[in-house]
Amino acid sequence: MRAAIKSVGLLGGGVIGAGWAARCALNGHDIAVCDLDPEAERKISEVMTNARRAWSRLTLAPLPAAGSIRVVKTIEAAAEGADFIQESLPEQEALKISLLARADKVAPPDVVIASSTSGLLPSRLQSGLAHPERFVIGHPFNPVYLMPLVEVCGGARTSDTTKESATRFYRALGMHPLLLRKEVDGFVADRLMEALWREALWLIHDDVATAAEIDDAVRFGPGLRWAFMGTLLIYRIAGGEPGMRHFMAQFGPALKWPWTKLMDVPELDEALLDKIVAQSDAQAGAAGIRELEQLRDDCLVAILQGLRTQDYAAGAVLDRFEKTLWAAGHRSEFDIEKSDLTKPLRLHETRVEPGWVDFNDHMTESRYLQVFGDATEVLLRVIGVDPDYHRGGHNYYTVETHLRHLREVEGGTPLHVTTQILGTDDKRIHVFHSLYRSDDDTLLATAEQMQLHVDTRASRACAAAPQVLARVQRIATAHRPLARPAGSGRAIALDQ
Ligand SMILES: NC(=O)c1ccc[n+]([C@@H]2O[C@H](COP(=O)([O-])OP(=O)(O)OC[C@H]3O[C@@H](n4cnc5c(N)ncnc54)[C@H](O)[C@@H]3O)[C@@H](O)[C@H]2O)c1
Repeated sequence: MRAAIKSVGLLGGGVIGAGWAARCALNGHDIAVCDLDPEAERKISEVMTNARRAWSRLTLAPLPAAGSIRVVKTIEAAAEGADFIQESLPEQEALKISLLARADKVAPPDVVIASSTSGLLPSRLQSGLAHPERFVIGHPFNPVYLMPLVEVCGGARTSDTTKESATRFYRALGMHPLLLRKEVDGFVADRLMEALWREALWLIHDDVATAAEIDDAVRFGPGLRWAFMGTLLIYRIAGGEPGMRHFMAQFGPALKWPWTKLMDVPELDEALLDKIVAQSDAQAGAAGIRELEQLRDDCLVAILQGLRTQDYAAGAVLDRFEKTLWAAGHRSEFDIEKSDLTKPLRLHETRVEPGWVDFNDHMTESRYLQVFGDATEVLLRVIGVDPDYHRGGHNYYTVETHLRHLREVEGGTPLHVTTQILGTDDKRIHVFHSLYRSDDDTLLATAEQMQLHVDTRASRACAAAPQVLARVQRIATAHRPLARPAGSGRAIALDQ
């Protein structure tokens, strides 16, 4: 199976397919997505906008340049040239089997074909394939671009290599692949959710609780604990010092009491359907789908970031993913050997992401520091301060910054930063960054900084390594004839 995955073919671009498109594109993959819906392009682009917004709130880590998303009209066009194929077509076994077979015909046998099915058995879905060994289930959760879990489940003829490749690919996307031990209808998570859902339907049917009340019972109660410890660990803690044995002794008898209906399902007739839909409409109020998605995403981001501070559960997945992003560093086309060093260096390109703006749609103050800090990171990479250098116990720290805000910077604005070295010695680099609107090169803001080279273990300043100093000197010498930028050396005072 392919070690390097660049392009991804998606079969189906609905709720789940669009979520895959967003997660994969944000990870730098180029996407070809097949969907027959004439509105597919618009819907996928709206989901991508929400995903960008969510990721700009989720992480400060540098992301690869986003990949392209192309909507195509045939299964073959999506599958051809793809290094990995993910199917997210409607949950109909016959349809999936026939369309998977078409992808199987055009994709070389070393390309994994995965299905997002919520619960159809992999052994059946792979039955029509000439290469069943490359087929696997990769069952995600909505929204795919934020939810870490993906259940990986092989069928009778799936090879171990396929399961390993899919697992590796999903992990690289920042997900938590859970490899199932055997195939079962509904897999693990949907079986759990289905039990809750069936009980909820009865509670509505019997007028015990409304849609909103059932959700309150979850979100103010057990849902909060499920988010980080699941069910079994929480019950163990509920058993107090003696743990699970005591818990089972206390609540074991309840297994025989009428506390659940499980296999007994209410008749889903028009009356029950109308009742659920009406209650759900009342619960949602005036909010539209994209608005509700944004609210959901913001709450998920808050939980993920909260859990990251504990380096636990889904927070540990986010932490691991961010570490790989930081290690890869800020991508820049800049090459010290090939670039003209006699002018300020154009090191960093970005845009004002939706999560960066405040109430008046202007970039909020902390993001200026982030953008200039990112430009500094690129400069440091250019002079050879990379993860290996950090591991050796050395780095440059920012010890002083002077920011000037010259123009409003609106949401969505494409930006670039140029960097001039004003002076240097063996421990310090005096840097001047200028932030421009890329459309028309308007100067928007500047940042003057002092970078101090440190021994990170001893926490004290020290001289940089000779190879780093040589590169800094090379740029500083080329910049010496340049005019001092307006605003450099400025201090804040009423009379200036
Ligand atoms: N919605 C969820 O929460 C969720 C979660 C996990 C897994 N899944 C699974 O993901 C899969 C897709 O579910 P969804 O919720 O995205 O459904 P969806 O209805 O939103 O998307 C299905 C898409 O397939 C397209 N389509 C239908 N026939 C097609 C064809 N012949 N060729 C090309 N495109 C075609 C439709 O236009 C639609 O956009 C299902 O297997 C589902 O069980 C769904």
